[in-house]
Amino acid sequence: MSAAVPFRDPARTDSTALREHVAALLDSRRRGYALPGAFFCDAALYAAELELIFGRHWLFVASEPEIPEGGDYRTFDIGPYPIFVLRRDDGSIVAFHNTCRHRGTRILQQPAGVVGSNLVCPYHRWVYDETGRLIGCGASELSAPMEGLRLKSVHVKRLAGLIFVCLAAEPPDDFPAMAAQMEPYLLPHAVARTRVAKQIDLIEHGNWKLTIENNRECFHCAGHPELSRSLFDFFGDIQEDALSPQERAAYASFQTARKAAIAGWERAGIPWQLIEKLHGRPTGFRTDRLVLNGAGESMTMDTRRACARLLGNFTDARLGSLHFHVQPNAWFHFLADHIVTFATLPLDAGRTLVRTTWLVDAAAQEGRDYDLENLTRIWVETNKQDATLVEEAHRGASSPAYEPGPLVGSEFMVGMFHSWYEERLRAALNL
Ligand code: FES
Ligand SMILES: [Fe+2]
Repeated sequence: MSAAVPFRDPARTDSTALREHVAALLDSRRRGYALPGAFFCDAALYAAELELIFGRHWLFVASEPEIPEGGDYRTFDIGPYPIFVLRRDDGSIVAFHNTCRHRGTRILQQPAGVVGSNLVCPYHRWVYDETGRLIGCGASELSAPMEGLRLKSVHVKRLAGLIFVCLAAEPPDDFPAMAAQMEPYLLPHAVARTRVAKQIDLIEHGNWKLTIENNRECFHCAGHPELSRSLFDFFGDIQEDALSPQERAAYASFQTARKAAIAGWERAGIPWQLIEKLHGRPTGFRTDRLVLNGAGESMTMDTRRACARLLGNFTDARLGSLHFHVQPNAWFHFLADHIVTFATLPLDAGRTLVRTTWLVDAAAQEGRDYDLENLTRIWVETNKQDATLVEEAHRGASSPAYEPGPLVGSEFMVGMFHSWYEERLRAALNL
């Protein structure tokens, strides 16, 4: 039997030239500053990122309510790799490379759907069972044993109803530690008992790192009038002396609201303490429960709950917004009445898919318990605004005249993302 030959240069990510190229780029970045323009446009760096960042880390791709029943699947692409996740009849979730073992065709060709007990490749109708085993090939004999022609599996982890996959043969082993810390925060929101109210795919015309950077700071939040209804604009270490009298008054009301909210969270037994592990580990993550302004119930225009039915066993809507970030591709807002998940995947060096999903209690009915426009408005508008910000950042930073400027204090999470990114590339390339 001949050895498998990968279709791309197997030495590419190990080649001296590539290591030196990435090392030179990383060396060119100044800590505490924005990334140099080459980080957003360089083709070799982008190819290395697909292999070393997206090919070797845990990626959030869907939540369990997106595939609630046995046979439900979702397809997506991680760089050049078509993948699908599938709910099996026993309730377990598996993921496979969506590439037929005959002549390669994508077996599942819709974004989402339902398969029967078997998966049938539409090209020559090879048949696989839900464990990926080839069980029929429409020919009386094959020159290779069927046992060796299983679909290639992809690692899957579930965290409180969120589905993560990893393409690496040996995924980072720190996922269980993150899960152990995060489950007490996430489980009360009962993701598995929700359903999808709406999902929107948006393509941002910018490099994926600009999408993540933009998500990791609210320095720009004055450009989000809808989001600013519910979100206080205070992040990181606040220098009170530097605040204007107007800002000082707003800060005082923020502190009062936060104190009251924390007392409520303590009474409700809801965890709220900050966990900040955005770098220093392969699966970087962070969680923080943010107090909301106004009525303090939800991320809506009137700051009140969008859905009459609260999630899980919640009886009080004033739970703030539990933010959860996972490097490199996801962030989440867990509210008392709904959840918003965001999954990003690069389409090419200058385009990034942002998939936003709104989850509500499984028993909630549109029209009776919630108004879809009210539920989705804040993030529909905010995403559009962010897409413009990312596109303009990409266009400006692609100019040869661009020089990275200094990050400000409230952009501390952008700095942490940069640290994580550099650590992961250096670790992968032994730099
Ligand atoms: S490519 Fe799938 S059956 Fe031929
Ligand atoms: Fe934004």
